[in-house]
Amino acid sequence: MCGIIGYAGSSPALPYLLKGLEQLEYRGYDSAGIAVMEKGEPRVVKSVGSTARLREKVSGHSLSGGLGIGHTRWATHGVPSEANAHPQSSGPLYIVHNGIIENERILRSELEAGGEVFLSETDTETIVHLVNRAMRQGIAFPEAVRSILPLLEGSYSFLMAHADPSEPLVAVHRGAPLLLGTCSHGVFVASDMTAFPGDVHSTLPLEVDDMVMIRSDGRFEILSLTQGKERVATLVSRSHHGVHGKGEYPHYMFKEICEQPEMLDRLLAKRIRREDGRLSVRFSSEAERALSSARRIRIVGCGTSFHAGILGKYRIEALSGVPVEVDVASEFRYREPILDPDADLLVVLTQSGETADTLAALRMAREAGVPTLALVNVEGSTADREADATILLEAGPEFGVAATKTFLSQIALLTLVALFLAPDDRLREKEGRSREEILSDFLKLPMLLDKTLSLSTGVTAIARSFIEVSTVLFMGRGGDFPLALEGALKLKEISYIHAEGYAGGELKHGPLALVEKGVPVVSLLSPDERLVPKMVSNMKETLSRGAFLVSIGSERFQEEFSPVSSMSLSLPDCLPMFFPLVSAVPLQLLAYHTACFKGFDVDRPRNLAKSVTVE
Ligand code: AGP
Repeated sequence: MCGIIGYAGSSPALPYLLKGLEQLEYRGYDSAGIAVMEKGEPRVVKSVGSTARLREKVSGHSLSGGLGIGHTRWATHGVPSEANAHPQSSGPLYIVHNGIIENERILRSELEAGGEVFLSETDTETIVHLVNRAMRQGIAFPEAVRSILPLLEGSYSFLMAHADPSEPLVAVHRGAPLLLGTCSHGVFVASDMTAFPGDVHSTLPLEVDDMVMIRSDGRFEILSLTQGKERVATLVSRSHHGVHGKGEYPHYMFKEICEQPEMLDRLLAKRIRREDGRLSVRFSSEAERALSSARRIRIVGCGTSFHAGILGKYRIEALSGVPVEVDVASEFRYREPILDPDADLLVVLTQSGETADTLAALRMAREAGVPTLALVNVEGSTADREADATILLEAGPEFGVAATKTFLSQIALLTLVALFLAPDDRLREKEGRSREEILSDFLKLPMLLDKTLSLSTGVTAIARSFIEVSTVLFMGRGGDFPLALEGALKLKEISYIHAEGYAGGELKHGPLALVEKGVPVVSLLSPDERLVPKMVSNMKETLSRGAFLVSIGSERFQEEFSPVSSMSLSLPDCLPMFFPLVSAVPLQLLAYHTACFKGFDVDRPRNLAKSVTVE
């Protein structure tokens, strides 16, 4: 959840730490801090709030040390405060940490009983006290670090620096991601690649149980804690794919929404290929093998990824006839699901590839001998590395905490998976079209997304009407149901308005009680002849209770839904199976503009972080 960065080299560490923390801020932004090992005396600066505040605070200091660590925090143990911000210290040691030490209470009591004085409520402080105590008992740094690791329970990573700059910077990976990056003037280590400056030419994702000693002359040694010996690893050249920065956009989220047509175009061009004169869907041979052998697909994910999973279930079952189950990862891992290694394929959906519950589900399946496939955005992430096969979302880096383009990529890929698995005759029977025709239509979707983006004025008008409301309901049937869930999640996540998504058919089973004069109800209407009349009835039911009815539907059925709506958006027509890809865009824009009107920090909503690496 937190972002950590360290540098050891011949240049001053401070500018790199500050820049890196700004890039990592999407992982947490309650507070931030740095420690630079200045000759003579290490300097620590911390601040509550964003890294911009930290930068302001640091501006009064002139620091030139070439070894330093930095942290941006998403609080788990203790409120956001300077005392709880990292780095934490004990004696000559300074630590920044990501993850959770689960036995922190026991360790803290023992340390306090032994005379250690704690200055924060963090679990992090226990680690640094333990190492310092080991040093006082005569174990040298960095061996002292290794000696206390067996005492720590949980999934975490940390960087530890010693006040003496001739000592190495130590990095420990025990479950939370860490990468090394090398350049001509030193070595970086950080929670993710985005923190590295352009000078970094080669990178190396660390493995769980790696402990690395990094020296300022650019040398580093990786010790495998499981093997108890040095691990030889090869650096790979850094791909500069995905330029960072907001460019001319006011927010990352808006930029990422606007990037979707181009992203989808690239994705489809890669996955839909013309072979022997026919269009077909192609994945890597491992992914194709895994999908083709599955007799039942189990999808797991959290939040937005879970919503994408529901849509995946609908599409895969309808088009291919392969049964699909979908679970929220945190439920799946504890509900004792029955896994069948001979029939099941576990598909994990995760933008970051680091979500703790999703990874736990992945590991559970692997232990049960069930093959696994990850649909993941971050190449080299834990999910990518641990799954048997991967399909990359290829959405480029996503910095806004609210997932947008990665959701679009997930639902596009799951629709492609459904089409990959669909037998020709079933496709024709269900859709009345050949695979060739369907895939040609799919290739035109980026154009429709472009058109949809240009409906921005209509969306802003709806958003303006949401400024003062306290509840918004979203409803849809079929593939629009997961979109209703996602539209509600986007809105609540960044505009802090209470919002819920429902299946249209569930309205009378409870949610209708919430509808009174002026309550906005957003209805989604795919161009599905079976469902449009049913949705229009649901809309009328809310209207007669005074709802402020907003409809977002296909232009083909505009005459059905527009007259009964207070406000409506007509989206370009397409096959019903593609409609969620189009309607996702106005739902994202609606949340975005509402949050902007309300003056909230769209890219960094309160209490949330981009990557949820703790349970
Ligand atoms: C989406 O806007 C959220 N930020 C959140 O629900 C997110 O989708 C969830 O935490 C899962 O993340 P993942 O895809 O990286 O696993």
